[in-house]
Amino acid sequence: MQILQNISLKPYNTFGIDVLAKQFAKFATLEELDELFSYRGNLSKPLIIGGGSNILFTQNVDGLVAKNELRGIGVIKEDDNHVYVKSAAGENWHQFVLYCIENNFAGVENLSLIPGNVGASPMQNIGAYGVEIKDVFHELEAYHIADKKLVTFSAADCEFGYRESVFKRNWKGEFVIMNVTFKLNKTPSFNTSYGAIEQELERMVVRQISIKAISDAVINIRQSKLPNPDEIGNAGSFFKNPTIQTSQYQQLKANFPSLIAYPFNNQMKLAAGWLIENCGPGNNTSWKGCRIGDAGCHDRQALVLVNYGTANGTDIYALSTAIVNSVKQKFGVELEREVNII
Ligand code: FAD
Ligand code: EPU
Repeated sequence: MQILQNISLKPYNTFGIDVLAKQFAKFATLEELDELFSYRGNLSKPLIIGGGSNILFTQNVDGLVAKNELRGIGVIKEDDNHVYVKSAAGENWHQFVLYCIENNFAGVENLSLIPGNVGASPMQNIGAYGVEIKDVFHELEAYHIADKKLVTFSAADCEFGYRESVFKRNWKGEFVIMNVTFKLNKTPSFNTSYGAIEQELERMVVRQISIKAISDAVINIRQSKLPNPDEIGNAGSFFKNPTIQTSQYQQLKANFPSLIAYPFNNQMKLAAGWLIENCGPGNNTSWKGCRIGDAGCHDRQALVLVNYGTANGTDIYALSTAIVNSVKQKFGVELEREVNII
């Protein structure tokens, strides 16, 4: 295994930000990971990356960046109703979803086309179209960097929340997620609770609903509004949808009748995209489609910030700060960044 010096991270993050890693290595086995962390020159905490689709680099990394290339997917056990599928952390998430669909293992079809690797999926409990990975998660194995030991985490250990887990909070930077085991269903229970899926299935004239049909519908919806990182740099939603008290929501709704919100844990979750679309810089009434140099707010989904080419991380971060301030000023709501800022 090679440890390279001063490597550009541009090919390794979907925002396409050009920063340097002081040290850079890829690992494909547990032995390589052990070797990597025995490397004497590496004193600071390493940054583990998968597909780089949820990271904004605002500076060079003055330490080790380790890219996870652990591979392998397989069924490890089954019972009458479930199949337990274990995937190595370096597998591409969407390829994993396609594997499940081909084998008729139900549960992850609503999570089609989310970029990145399986290993990052528990980090923020990835979610889309009415499903989160916590709904199909069984357990994961993670390597404790300081002790050089493998630890098993159950769903309860992971403390999953909306775009949250223990790995994003208490254990940040302490573990390398090595593999994840999912508990999938032999008989699907189709989740079309997200209205747009029903509409898309109708548009597709689907006669017989199936996990493949749901996956195709989700892919179509995503492609219609989310920018493809191969064409325009981005990391998906830059902010979380904020949750507020029902009383605050009722006041806001009275002032802004078209406000979009959903009940969530006895509170209301607001559509951050709507908030960002409905305020703007200076005399401009909307951030949606705004561009400052090469940093922009996407014109089809205001929650997504984009790099049109040469923006650096601080340009994107400055735009995000202007949006946070603008939303706060107009609606009194604090937006929290979803993307990991490095
Ligand atoms: P990276 O960006 O490489 O890493 C993310 C974080 O996890 C970093 O802090 C990193 O250090 C850490 N990490 C990564 N791998 C490991 C590991 N093996 N062990 C320990 N730490 C690790 N997310 C959603 O939830 N829902 C969506 O619908 C969605 N849509 C998106 C659409 C687009 C166009 C894009 C670009 C992104 C979208 N995302 C979405 C965000 C992103 O795809 C997910 O967060 C994904 O899980 C990130 O995977 P990754 O491998 O690229 O992680
Ligand atoms: N909306 C607007 N203006 C916009 C964008 C959205 O008014 O510019 C409104 C839409 O019209 C809709 C509502 O907001 O009524 C919700 O929009 P959408 O269905 O596009 O979902 P979202 O809340 O913006 C969330 C996730 C996405 C996930 C989708 C689908 C977060 C932070 N984002 O977006 O996840 O794919 O739902 O489930 O929760 C990601 O995390 O990177 C991501 C893309």
